[in-house]
Amino acid sequence: MKIIIIGGKGTVGSAVVKELSPRHEILIAGRSSSDLPCDITSEDSIRAMYKKAGKIDAVVIASGSYAFHDFSEMTSDKYYVGLNDKLMGQVNTVLIGREYISDGGSFTLTSGIIGHDPIRGGTSATMVNRAIEGFVVASAIEMPRNLRINVVCASVLKEAMEKYAKYFRGFNPVPAATVALAYSKSVEGLQTGQVYKVFG
Ligand SMILES: NC(=O)c1ccc[n+]([C@@H]2O[C@H](COP(=O)([O-])OP(=O)(O)OC[C@H]3O[C@@H](n4cnc5c(N)ncnc54)[C@H](OP(=O)(O)O)[C@@H]3O)[C@@H](O)[C@H]2O)c1
Repeated sequence: MKIIIIGGKGTVGSAVVKELSPRHEILIAGRSSSDLPCDITSEDSIRAMYKKAGKIDAVVIASGSYAFHDFSEMTSDKYYVGLNDKLMGQVNTVLIGREYISDGGSFTLTSGIIGHDPIRGGTSATMVNRAIEGFVVASAIEMPRNLRINVVCASVLKEAMEKYAKYFRGFNPVPAATVALAYSKSVEGLQTGQVYKVFG
């Protein structure tokens, strides 16, 4: 398969690239990618990415940010960071991707454990992650041309604990290689409308 991995240089994405690259042709996309530049917050940029990539069989999105602040500091503008980037960035990548992906192709999105297990400062993260999962389970039943869509919802990664440990006390960190298996199941299997929880 020819697979676009948006965020393929990141902590999650690089593990997905490692898992899938022995068996497939991988195109790594991201804002700083010279091969396949893409900023998922811009519909023009998403479209340019698909045009440059040509016919593809699967798209994995392993990126997405939101504003992280105590609830007392949250404002409408701060919620729009996550809505525009992690939520609508992934949704628009699917909407536009419908025009470019092969019959029977798949989209694999990324949410995260905070959607189900909230932490301090994470009101936007919880809201956005649940919205992504809602979009996936509902759009799956209306996908044309046997297209599939799933989402991977992982716990904090072992590899990210240096950065995030203080926010995730009491959580069970999972190795990136284990999380990558969920992306493999989504891309290489036949299931659709699934939320793959990798909580360790
Ligand atoms: N790390 C964890 O423990 C963990 C656990 C569960 C879920 N997640 C979720 O997994 C996703 C990736 O997290 P990560 O920790 O791997 O992040 P990361 O290490 O910061 O990597 C993010 C990747 O996405 C690309 N990117 C960022 N913004 C982009 C945009 N607007 N358009 C296109 N590409 C963009 C970055 O490349 P450029 O800078 O070149 O664009 C980079 O390759 C996030 O949604 C995160 O919430 C992470």
